[in-house]
Amino acid sequence: MGAMPTKTTMTVPLLDLKAQYADIRAEIDDAVRRVMESARFIGGPEVSGLEEEVARYSQVPYGIGCASGTDALLLSLRALGIGPGDEVVTSAYSFFASAGTIANVGATPVFVDIDPRTYNLDPHRLEGAITPRTKAVIAVHLYGQCCDLAAVKAVCDKRQVWLIEDAAQAIGAEWEGRRAGAVGDFGCFSFFPSKNLGGAGDGGMIVTRHGDYADRLRLLREHGARPKYYHALIGTNSRLDALQAAILRVKLRHLDRWSEARARNAEAYTRWLEGSRVGRPYRDPRARHIYNQYVIRVEKRDELKQFLADRAIGTEIYYPVPLHLQECFASLGHRSGDMPHAEAAAKETLALPVYPELGEDRLRYVVQAVREFVDS
Ligand SMILES: Cc1ncc(COP(=O)(O)O)c(C=O)c1O
Repeated sequence: MGAMPTKTTMTVPLLDLKAQYADIRAEIDDAVRRVMESARFIGGPEVSGLEEEVARYSQVPYGIGCASGTDALLLSLRALGIGPGDEVVTSAYSFFASAGTIANVGATPVFVDIDPRTYNLDPHRLEGAITPRTKAVIAVHLYGQCCDLAAVKAVCDKRQVWLIEDAAQAIGAEWEGRRAGAVGDFGCFSFFPSKNLGGAGDGGMIVTRHGDYADRLRLLREHGARPKYYHALIGTNSRLDALQAAILRVKLRHLDRWSEARARNAEAYTRWLEGSRVGRPYRDPRARHIYNQYVIRVEKRDELKQFLADRAIGTEIYYPVPLHLQECFASLGHRSGDMPHAEAAAKETLALPVYPELGEDRLRYVVQAVREFVDS
């Protein structure tokens, strides 16, 4: 393994947004020009247009744009009045925002271990984590595959707690034919550039079927004011820019094509890695997986990451520390061993490039390098 890096001219980044821009440059440039010429930078038809289109795409009546996926979660928690003394249950293995937002409203995050096959919250462990203080569950759809939404929803209904879907990585994903964000009370999306629907900067959206909460969310994202300067609620500034909205409307038209290309790349990896000692992602037959990430599992993960970096292949670890062991949550009193599946995933998972423009040569090059490492 300590061998010299293979000599090659091929470079495979984890994601190639320049290739995406080259593909749709004229449409994006038109959209940007349209906003610049209108000089309508805050609110306006681009933002409301995107809200309607994302809501329709997600099979939900209302969409509320906001500044980021983190704010989508935060505003949902605030709209529900969740705060000190309350508990919110979430997955032990996710991006920090799934838990950080709970702490940021003053509530306590309660973690549940994952299903080691999907890396999503294990629904069988959910009910045991719910107490009389639990107000909501934040169910994460990690890597672009929904958690078992039917099972999670059944527990939330039975125990009368709100269900917030953290669909930041999963726009367009489905569970038994229902879109990510459509099953819970709130669905939260991120338009961070690396997402399947990514802007040219930060952005986010909440979708909901509750008209009264949609209204409240609209108030909260603009300092709780209606009309302007008359504040019924204490909100914040968490608007989605018109420029971002215009760019995202263009990209939304290409989203299914991109997600399908990602799924084809994922299938190729899965086929070509068969018979190797690589743990390949499990796709639940009830799910439409949109492969925001293609995540493999290997024992010597850190060595593999370096081996691939030496061959100009970009990879990433999502995530190296499970949430319950993050330093900032030390006061919750968790120890190593509390969430064994999340802890093992944090040591063994690695995301490979799966972006739509990857192409067969690069795919084969990545597979060959991974196999060379694991089979040697
Ligand atoms: C699972 C998950 N939740 C929440 C977020 C937060 O989204 P944002 O980066 O737009 O604030 C992300 C994005 O990285 C995410 O992956």
